[in-house]
Amino acid sequence: MNFQASLEHALQLDRNDPLRKFQQDFLHPKVNDRPGIYFLGNSLGLQPKSASLKIQEVLDQWSAHGVEAFFEPGSSWTGYHDRLTTKMAPIVGAKPHEISIQNALTVNLHLLFASFYRPSGKRTKILCESGAFPSDQYMIDSHLRQRGSEPRDHLLEVSPRQGEETILMEDILDMIESHRDELALVFLGGVNYYTGQLFDIGLITQAAHEAGALAGFDLAHAAGNIPLHLHDWNVDFAAWCNYKYLNGGPGAIGSLYVHERHHGNSSIPRLAGWWGNEQSTRFLMEPIFRPEGHASGWQLSTPPILLLATLEASLDLFLDAGWENLCVKQNKLTSWLWFLLDELNRKQLRQVVRYITPRQEKGCQVSLLTLENGTALHSALSDHGIMTDWREPDVIRMAPVPFYNSYEQIWHTYEVLSGLIT
Ligand SMILES: Cc1ncc(COP(=O)(O)O)c(C=O)c1O
Repeated sequence: MNFQASLEHALQLDRNDPLRKFQQDFLHPKVNDRPGIYFLGNSLGLQPKSASLKIQEVLDQWSAHGVEAFFEPGSSWTGYHDRLTTKMAPIVGAKPHEISIQNALTVNLHLLFASFYRPSGKRTKILCESGAFPSDQYMIDSHLRQRGSEPRDHLLEVSPRQGEETILMEDILDMIESHRDELALVFLGGVNYYTGQLFDIGLITQAAHEAGALAGFDLAHAAGNIPLHLHDWNVDFAAWCNYKYLNGGPGAIGSLYVHERHHGNSSIPRLAGWWGNEQSTRFLMEPIFRPEGHASGWQLSTPPILLLATLEASLDLFLDAGWENLCVKQNKLTSWLWFLLDELNRKQLRQVVRYITPRQEKGCQVSLLTLENGTALHSALSDHGIMTDWREPDVIRMAPVPFYNSYEQIWHTYEVLSGLIT
Protein backbone atom coordinates (compact mmCIF):
# COMPACT_ATOMS: atom_id res chain seq x y z
CA MET A 1 0.00 0.00 0.00
CA ASN A 2 1.31 3.43 -0.91
CA PHE A 3 1.02 5.65 2.13
CA GLN A 4 2.33 9.15 2.75
CA ALA A 5 2.95 10.46 6.24
CA SER A 6 0.62 13.47 6.26
CA LEU A 7 -2.68 14.58 7.71
CA GLU A 8 -3.98 15.26 4.20
CA HIS A 9 -3.28 11.64 3.26
CA ALA A 10 -5.10 10.41 6.39
CA LEU A 11 -8.13 12.56 5.52
CA GLN A 12 -8.07 11.26 1.97
CA LEU A 13 -8.04 7.67 3.25
CA ASP A 14 -11.06 8.47 5.41
CA ARG A 15 -12.90 10.11 2.51
CA ASN A 16 -12.35 6.97 0.44
CA ASP A 17 -13.38 4.61 3.24
CA PRO A 18 -16.63 2.85 2.26
CA LEU A 19 -17.25 1.87 5.91
CA ARG A 20 -16.82 5.35 7.32
CA LYS A 21 -20.50 5.81 8.09
CA PHE A 22 -20.42 2.97 10.65
CA GLN A 23 -18.47 5.16 13.10
CA GLN A 24 -21.80 6.92 13.74
CA ASP A 25 -23.47 3.64 14.70
CA PHE A 26 -21.45 3.40 17.92
CA LEU A 27 -21.36 5.47 21.10
CA HIS A 28 -17.86 6.91 21.57
CA PRO A 29 -16.61 7.60 25.11
CA LYS A 30 -15.38 11.05 26.06
CA VAL A 31 -12.10 11.85 27.76
CA ASN A 32 -12.02 15.12 29.72
CA ASP A 33 -15.33 16.11 28.08
CA ARG A 34 -13.85 15.72 24.61
CA PRO A 35 -14.44 12.78 22.23
CA GLY A 36 -11.79 10.18 22.99
CA ILE A 37 -9.93 8.03 20.49
CA TYR A 38 -10.91 4.52 21.48
CA PHE A 39 -8.29 1.87 20.74
CA LEU A 40 -9.66 -0.62 23.26
CA GLY A 41 -11.83 -2.79 21.05
CA ASN A 42 -9.47 -5.65 21.98
CA SER A 43 -10.79 -5.35 25.50
CA LEU A 44 -14.41 -4.15 25.27
CA GLY A 45 -15.92 -3.16 21.94
CA LEU A 46 -17.96 0.04 21.77
CA GLN A 47 -21.70 0.08 22.30
CA PRO A 48 -23.77 -0.04 19.11
CA LYS A 49 -26.43 2.67 19.30
CA SER A 50 -28.99 0.02 18.41
CA ALA A 51 -28.16 -2.06 21.53
CA SER A 52 -30.53 -0.13 23.77
CA LEU A 53 -33.34 -0.44 21.19
CA LYS A 54 -32.79 -4.19 21.02
CA ILE A 55 -32.92 -4.44 24.81
CA GLN A 56 -36.07 -2.34 24.89
CA GLU A 57 -37.63 -4.67 22.31
CA VAL A 58 -37.06 -7.65 24.60
CA LEU A 59 -38.37 -5.74 27.61
CA ASP A 60 -41.49 -4.88 25.62
CA GLN A 61 -41.96 -8.50 24.56
CA TRP A 62 -41.55 -9.58 28.18
CA SER A 63 -44.13 -7.08 29.40
CA ALA A 64 -46.55 -7.92 26.59
CA HIS A 65 -46.32 -11.72 26.73
CA GLY A 66 -44.50 -12.86 29.86
CA VAL A 67 -43.13 -16.35 29.38
CA GLU A 68 -45.23 -16.79 26.24
CA ALA A 69 -42.67 -14.57 24.47
CA PHE A 70 -40.55 -17.73 24.13
CA PHE A 71 -43.15 -19.05 21.68
CA GLU A 72 -44.90 -15.93 20.29
CA PRO A 73 -44.23 -15.68 16.54
CA GLY A 74 -43.35 -11.97 16.94
CA SER A 75 -40.63 -12.53 19.51
CA SER A 76 -39.80 -16.23 19.26
CA TRP A 77 -37.20 -16.24 21.99
CA THR A 78 -36.85 -19.99 21.48
CA GLY A 79 -35.54 -19.35 17.98
CA TYR A 80 -33.35 -16.39 19.02
CA HIS A 81 -30.27 -18.53 19.45
CA ASP A 82 -30.49 -20.00 15.95
CA ARG A 83 -30.89 -16.55 14.39
CA LEU A 84 -27.67 -15.46 16.06
CA THR A 85 -25.61 -18.51 15.11
CA THR A 86 -26.56 -17.86 11.48
CA LYS A 87 -25.28 -14.29 11.82
CA MET A 88 -22.11 -15.36 13.67
CA ALA A 89 -21.15 -18.22 11.34
CA PRO A 90 -19.49 -16.23 8.51
CA ILE A 91 -17.36 -14.27 10.98
CA VAL A 92 -15.63 -17.39 12.26
CA GLY A 93 -15.92 -19.54 9.12
CA ALA A 94 -18.18 -22.15 10.69
CA LYS A 95 -21.54 -23.66 9.84
CA PRO A 96 -24.33 -22.19 11.97
CA HIS A 97 -25.04 -25.54 13.64
CA GLU A 98 -21.36 -25.77 14.68
CA ILE A 99 -21.83 -22.73 16.95
CA SER A 100 -23.61 -22.37 20.24
CA ILE A 101 -24.01 -18.97 21.92
CA GLN A 102 -24.01 -19.52 25.66
CA ASN A 103 -22.39 -18.80 29.03
CA ALA A 104 -19.07 -16.97 29.11
CA LEU A 105 -15.70 -17.87 27.64
CA THR A 106 -14.07 -19.62 30.60
CA VAL A 107 -17.24 -21.58 31.36
CA ASN A 108 -17.43 -22.71 27.75
CA LEU A 109 -13.78 -23.78 27.79
CA HIS A 110 -14.47 -25.90 30.84
CA LEU A 111 -17.38 -27.56 29.05
CA LEU A 112 -15.26 -28.19 25.98
CA PHE A 113 -12.38 -29.61 27.99
CA ALA A 114 -14.83 -31.95 29.71
CA SER A 115 -15.67 -33.26 26.24
CA PHE A 116 -12.42 -33.03 24.30
CA TYR A 117 -9.63 -33.57 26.78
CA ARG A 118 -9.80 -37.33 26.93
CA PRO A 119 -6.49 -38.67 28.19
CA SER A 120 -5.97 -42.31 27.46
CA GLY A 121 -2.97 -44.57 28.03
CA LYS A 122 0.24 -42.67 27.28
CA ARG A 123 -1.70 -39.90 25.56
CA THR A 124 -2.35 -37.53 28.43
CA LYS A 125 -0.54 -34.32 27.57
CA ILE A 126 -1.89 -30.90 26.69
CA LEU A 127 0.28 -28.57 24.65
CA CYS A 128 -0.33 -24.86 25.18
CA GLU A 129 1.50 -21.56 24.84
CA SER A 130 3.47 -20.13 27.74
CA GLY A 131 1.98 -16.79 28.72
CA ALA A 132 -1.54 -17.85 27.83
CA PHE A 133 -4.30 -15.70 29.34
CA PRO A 134 -4.43 -16.49 33.09
CA SER A 135 -8.01 -17.75 32.98
CA ASP A 136 -6.95 -20.37 30.42
CA GLN A 137 -4.06 -21.42 32.64
CA TYR A 138 -6.34 -21.74 35.67
CA MET A 139 -8.91 -23.59 33.60
CA ILE A 140 -6.38 -26.18 32.34
CA ASP A 141 -4.76 -26.54 35.74
CA SER A 142 -8.07 -27.07 37.50
CA HIS A 143 -9.18 -29.59 34.87
CA LEU A 144 -6.11 -31.68 35.40
CA ARG A 145 -6.34 -31.49 39.18
CA GLN A 146 -10.05 -32.25 39.12
CA ARG A 147 -9.18 -35.48 37.27
CA GLY A 148 -6.53 -36.30 39.85
CA SER A 149 -3.59 -35.43 37.55
CA GLU A 150 -0.60 -33.34 38.51
CA PRO A 151 -0.48 -30.39 36.04
CA ARG A 152 3.30 -30.31 35.74
CA ASP A 153 3.32 -33.92 34.53
CA HIS A 154 0.78 -33.32 31.79
CA LEU A 155 1.34 -29.78 30.52
CA LEU A 156 3.73 -28.93 27.71
CA GLU A 157 4.31 -25.21 27.27
CA VAL A 158 5.87 -23.82 24.14
CA SER A 159 7.73 -20.57 24.82
CA PRO A 160 9.45 -17.81 22.88
CA ARG A 161 13.16 -18.43 22.40
CA GLN A 162 15.62 -16.71 24.71
CA GLY A 163 15.50 -12.95 24.17
CA GLU A 164 12.38 -13.11 21.97
CA GLU A 165 8.82 -12.07 22.72
CA THR A 166 6.82 -14.24 20.36
CA ILE A 167 6.71 -17.95 19.67
CA LEU A 168 8.06 -19.40 16.44
CA MET A 169 5.61 -21.51 14.48
CA GLU A 170 8.37 -24.05 13.83
CA ASP A 171 8.82 -24.45 17.60
CA ILE A 172 5.10 -25.25 18.01
CA LEU A 173 5.25 -27.77 15.19
CA ASP A 174 8.49 -29.30 16.53
CA MET A 175 7.01 -29.71 19.97
CA ILE A 176 3.91 -31.39 18.54
CA GLU A 177 6.13 -33.73 16.54
CA SER A 178 8.49 -34.57 19.38
CA HIS A 179 5.61 -35.44 21.72
CA ARG A 180 3.40 -37.06 19.13
CA ASP A 181 2.84 -40.26 21.12
CA GLU A 182 1.81 -38.56 24.36
CA LEU A 183 -0.30 -35.66 23.13
CA ALA A 184 -4.02 -35.71 23.85
CA LEU A 185 -4.75 -32.08 23.02
CA VAL A 186 -3.20 -28.97 21.49
CA PHE A 187 -4.82 -25.85 22.90
CA LEU A 188 -3.71 -22.33 22.00
CA GLY A 189 -5.06 -18.81 21.71
CA GLY A 190 -5.76 -17.76 18.11
CA VAL A 191 -4.18 -14.37 18.86
CA ASN A 192 -2.07 -13.97 21.99
CA TYR A 193 -3.70 -11.38 24.25
CA TYR A 194 -0.38 -9.82 25.30
CA THR A 195 1.77 -9.80 22.18
CA GLY A 196 -0.98 -9.73 19.54
CA GLN A 197 0.78 -12.66 17.82
CA LEU A 198 -1.47 -14.65 15.47
CA PHE A 199 -1.05 -18.40 15.39
CA ASP A 200 -1.53 -20.37 12.19
CA ILE A 201 -4.63 -22.21 13.33
CA GLY A 202 -4.95 -24.31 10.15
CA LEU A 203 -1.37 -25.57 10.27
CA ILE A 204 -1.41 -26.24 14.00
CA THR A 205 -4.68 -28.19 13.69
CA GLN A 206 -3.25 -30.26 10.85
CA ALA A 207 -0.08 -31.02 12.83
CA ALA A 208 -2.11 -31.95 15.93
CA HIS A 209 -4.29 -34.30 13.89
CA GLU A 210 -1.27 -35.91 12.23
CA ALA A 211 0.07 -36.57 15.72
CA GLY A 212 -3.22 -38.20 16.71
CA ALA A 213 -4.30 -35.35 19.02
CA LEU A 214 -7.23 -32.94 18.95
CA ALA A 215 -6.87 -29.17 18.45
CA GLY A 216 -8.84 -26.45 20.24
CA PHE A 217 -8.48 -22.68 20.42
CA ASP A 218 -9.35 -19.74 22.62
CA LEU A 219 -10.42 -17.14 20.06
CA ALA A 220 -11.11 -14.23 22.44
CA HIS A 221 -8.73 -11.97 20.52
CA ALA A 222 -9.33 -13.50 17.10
CA ALA A 223 -13.12 -13.61 16.61
CA GLY A 224 -14.34 -10.49 14.83
CA ASN A 225 -10.72 -9.41 14.40
CA ILE A 226 -9.16 -11.64 11.74
CA PRO A 227 -10.59 -13.96 9.08
CA LEU A 228 -11.16 -17.46 10.46
CA HIS A 229 -12.09 -20.70 8.71
CA LEU A 230 -12.79 -22.99 11.63
CA HIS A 231 -14.75 -25.56 9.66
CA ASP A 232 -12.37 -25.79 6.70
CA TRP A 233 -9.34 -25.86 9.00
CA ASN A 234 -10.93 -28.86 10.72
CA VAL A 235 -10.56 -27.26 14.14
CA ASP A 236 -12.08 -29.62 16.70
CA PHE A 237 -13.40 -27.01 19.13
CA ALA A 238 -13.07 -23.35 20.02
CA ALA A 239 -14.62 -20.72 22.25
CA TRP A 240 -14.58 -16.94 22.32
CA CYS A 241 -16.07 -14.05 24.20
CA ASN A 242 -18.34 -11.65 22.36
CA TYR A 243 -17.46 -8.48 24.22
CA LYS A 244 -14.21 -7.57 22.45
CA TYR A 245 -14.26 -7.19 18.66
CA LEU A 246 -17.85 -8.47 18.60
CA ASN A 247 -19.23 -5.56 20.66
CA GLY A 248 -21.75 -7.64 22.60
CA GLY A 249 -21.38 -5.55 25.78
CA PRO A 250 -19.63 -5.98 29.12
CA GLY A 251 -19.77 -9.62 30.22
CA ALA A 252 -21.55 -10.48 26.96
CA ILE A 253 -22.75 -14.00 26.39
CA GLY A 254 -19.95 -16.18 24.94
CA SER A 255 -19.77 -18.59 22.00
CA LEU A 256 -18.47 -22.05 21.41
CA TYR A 257 -17.80 -24.03 18.26
CA VAL A 258 -17.65 -27.79 17.80
CA HIS A 259 -16.80 -29.26 14.39
CA GLU A 260 -19.77 -31.11 12.95
CA ARG A 261 -17.86 -34.39 12.73
CA HIS A 262 -18.09 -34.63 16.54
CA HIS A 263 -21.80 -33.86 16.77
CA GLY A 264 -23.28 -37.31 16.47
CA ASN A 265 -20.55 -39.06 18.47
CA SER A 266 -22.31 -40.38 21.57
CA SER A 267 -19.03 -41.59 23.08
CA ILE A 268 -17.97 -37.98 23.73
CA PRO A 269 -18.66 -37.22 27.38
CA ARG A 270 -20.27 -33.92 28.25
CA LEU A 271 -21.68 -31.94 31.12
CA ALA A 272 -25.37 -31.72 30.41
CA GLY A 273 -28.24 -29.33 31.07
CA TRP A 274 -31.84 -29.24 29.93
CA TRP A 275 -31.29 -26.54 27.31
CA GLY A 276 -28.87 -28.88 25.51
CA ASN A 277 -31.58 -31.51 25.26
CA GLU A 278 -33.14 -31.77 21.81
CA GLN A 279 -35.71 -29.02 21.40
CA SER A 280 -38.46 -31.39 20.27
CA THR A 281 -38.47 -33.33 23.56
CA ARG A 282 -37.13 -30.72 25.99
CA PHE A 283 -40.48 -29.89 27.49
CA LEU A 284 -41.48 -33.52 27.93
CA MET A 285 -39.28 -33.23 31.03
CA GLU A 286 -37.97 -36.77 30.71
CA PRO A 287 -35.19 -38.00 33.00
CA ILE A 288 -32.95 -39.12 30.11
CA PHE A 289 -30.78 -36.50 28.42
CA ARG A 290 -30.97 -36.54 24.63
CA PRO A 291 -28.50 -33.96 23.33
CA GLU A 292 -29.28 -31.83 20.29
CA GLY A 293 -27.36 -33.31 17.38
CA HIS A 294 -25.22 -30.18 16.97
CA ALA A 295 -23.24 -27.60 18.94
CA SER A 296 -26.25 -26.39 20.89
CA GLY A 297 -26.25 -29.83 22.53
CA TRP A 298 -23.51 -28.31 24.72
CA GLN A 299 -25.92 -25.70 26.14
CA LEU A 300 -26.92 -26.04 29.75
CA SER A 301 -29.34 -23.31 30.74
CA THR A 302 -32.13 -21.05 29.58
CA PRO A 303 -30.53 -18.42 27.31
CA PRO A 304 -30.27 -14.87 28.72
CA ILE A 305 -32.41 -13.15 26.10
CA LEU A 306 -31.29 -9.62 27.06
CA LEU A 307 -27.68 -10.61 26.36
CA LEU A 308 -28.62 -12.19 23.05
CA ALA A 309 -30.30 -8.88 22.18
CA THR A 310 -27.18 -6.74 22.68
CA LEU A 311 -25.10 -9.21 20.70
CA GLU A 312 -27.63 -9.17 17.87
CA ALA A 313 -27.36 -5.38 17.68
CA SER A 314 -23.69 -5.77 16.84
CA LEU A 315 -24.03 -8.81 14.57
CA ASP A 316 -26.57 -6.89 12.48
CA LEU A 317 -23.94 -4.21 11.93
CA PHE A 318 -21.47 -6.91 10.85
CA LEU A 319 -24.05 -8.08 8.32
CA ASP A 320 -24.68 -4.53 7.08
CA ALA A 321 -21.01 -3.71 6.72
CA GLY A 322 -20.06 -7.14 5.32
CA TRP A 323 -17.39 -9.19 7.10
CA GLU A 324 -15.10 -9.27 4.01
CA ASN A 325 -15.27 -5.45 3.79
CA LEU A 326 -14.40 -5.13 7.47
CA CYS A 327 -11.40 -7.43 6.96
CA VAL A 328 -10.22 -5.30 4.02
CA LYS A 329 -10.43 -2.12 6.09
CA GLN A 330 -8.86 -3.81 9.10
CA ASN A 331 -5.86 -4.77 6.99
CA LYS A 332 -5.54 -1.25 5.58
CA LEU A 333 -6.00 0.48 8.93
CA THR A 334 -3.35 -1.70 10.61
CA SER A 335 -0.99 -1.25 7.65
CA TRP A 336 -1.41 2.53 8.04
CA LEU A 337 -0.62 2.22 11.76
CA TRP A 338 2.48 0.12 11.04
CA PHE A 339 3.59 2.57 8.35
CA LEU A 340 3.44 5.42 10.87
CA LEU A 341 5.12 3.36 13.60
CA ASP A 342 7.98 2.77 11.14
CA GLU A 343 8.16 6.55 10.63
CA LEU A 344 8.32 6.97 14.41
CA ASN A 345 11.11 4.41 14.64
CA ARG A 346 13.10 6.33 12.05
CA LYS A 347 12.68 9.56 14.02
CA GLN A 348 13.43 8.12 17.46
CA LEU A 349 16.67 9.49 18.88
CA ARG A 350 16.94 6.60 21.31
CA GLN A 351 14.77 3.55 21.60
CA VAL A 352 11.93 4.08 24.06
CA VAL A 353 9.43 1.54 22.70
CA ARG A 354 9.64 -1.68 20.74
CA TYR A 355 6.74 -3.24 18.88
CA ILE A 356 6.41 -6.85 19.90
CA THR A 357 3.49 -7.78 17.68
CA PRO A 358 4.99 -9.43 14.60
CA ARG A 359 4.26 -6.83 11.95
CA GLN A 360 3.48 -9.27 9.16
CA GLU A 361 0.47 -10.44 11.18
CA LYS A 362 -2.43 -8.20 10.43
CA GLY A 363 -4.74 -8.36 13.42
CA CYS A 364 -6.07 -5.09 14.87
CA GLN A 365 -3.81 -5.19 17.93
CA VAL A 366 -0.33 -3.74 18.18
CA SER A 367 1.56 -4.18 21.46
CA LEU A 368 4.19 -1.61 22.34
CA LEU A 369 6.85 -2.81 24.74
CA THR A 370 7.89 0.23 26.75
CA LEU A 371 11.57 0.26 27.63
CA GLU A 372 11.32 3.07 30.19
CA ASN A 373 8.53 4.95 32.03
CA GLY A 374 5.81 2.84 30.43
CA THR A 375 3.03 3.80 32.82
CA ALA A 376 3.86 7.49 32.31
CA LEU A 377 3.65 7.05 28.54
CA HIS A 378 0.33 5.28 28.91
CA SER A 379 -1.13 8.07 31.06
CA ALA A 380 0.25 10.75 28.74
CA LEU A 381 -1.65 9.09 25.88
CA SER A 382 -4.81 9.16 28.02
CA ASP A 383 -4.26 12.85 28.76
CA HIS A 384 -4.37 13.39 25.00
CA GLY A 385 -7.67 11.51 24.80
CA ILE A 386 -6.06 8.37 23.32
CA MET A 387 -7.48 5.33 25.07
CA THR A 388 -5.13 2.34 25.07
CA ASP A 389 -4.57 -0.29 27.71
CA TRP A 390 -1.72 -1.21 29.95
CA ARG A 391 -0.71 -4.79 30.60
CA GLU A 392 1.82 -5.53 33.32
CA PRO A 393 4.73 -5.42 33.34
CA ASP A 394 5.48 -3.11 30.42
CA VAL A 395 3.10 -3.33 27.48
CA ILE A 396 0.71 -0.79 25.96
CA ARG A 397 -1.84 -2.40 23.69
CA MET A 398 -3.72 -0.47 21.04
CA ALA A 399 -6.22 -1.87 18.59
CA PRO A 400 -7.72 0.30 15.86
CA VAL A 401 -11.02 -1.31 14.89
CA PRO A 402 -12.42 -0.97 11.37
CA PHE A 403 -15.98 -0.30 12.56
CA TYR A 404 -15.26 2.83 14.55
CA ASN A 405 -11.67 4.01 14.17
CA SER A 406 -10.45 6.32 11.42
CA TYR A 407 -7.19 6.90 9.56
CA GLU A 408 -7.16 10.43 10.96
CA GLN A 409 -7.30 9.11 14.55
CA ILE A 410 -4.23 6.99 13.83
CA TRP A 411 -2.48 10.01 12.34
CA HIS A 412 -3.29 12.04 15.44
CA THR A 413 -1.93 9.24 17.65
CA TYR A 414 1.27 9.19 15.61
CA GLU A 415 1.67 12.94 16.14
CA VAL A 416 1.09 12.61 19.88
CA LEU A 417 3.49 9.64 20.14
CA SER A 418 6.08 11.60 18.14
CA GLY A 419 5.92 14.37 20.74
CA LEU A 420 6.15 11.91 23.61
CA ILE A 421 8.90 9.54 22.54
CA THR A 422 11.28 11.26 20.16
C1 LIG B 1 -7.60 -14.69 25.81
C2 LIG B 1 -8.64 -14.68 26.89
N1 LIG B 1 -9.08 -15.83 27.39
C3 LIG B 1 -10.01 -15.87 28.37
C4 LIG B 1 -10.55 -14.71 28.87
C5 LIG B 1 -11.59 -14.80 29.96
O1 LIG B 1 -12.84 -14.50 29.46
P1 LIG B 1 -14.17 -14.55 30.39
O2 LIG B 1 -13.93 -13.60 31.50
O3 LIG B 1 -15.26 -14.09 29.48
O4 LIG B 1 -14.33 -15.94 30.85
C6 LIG B 1 -10.15 -13.47 28.35
C7 LIG B 1 -10.72 -12.21 28.87
O5 LIG B 1 -10.37 -11.13 28.49
C8 LIG B 1 -9.15 -13.46 27.34
O6 LIG B 1 -8.70 -12.31 26.84
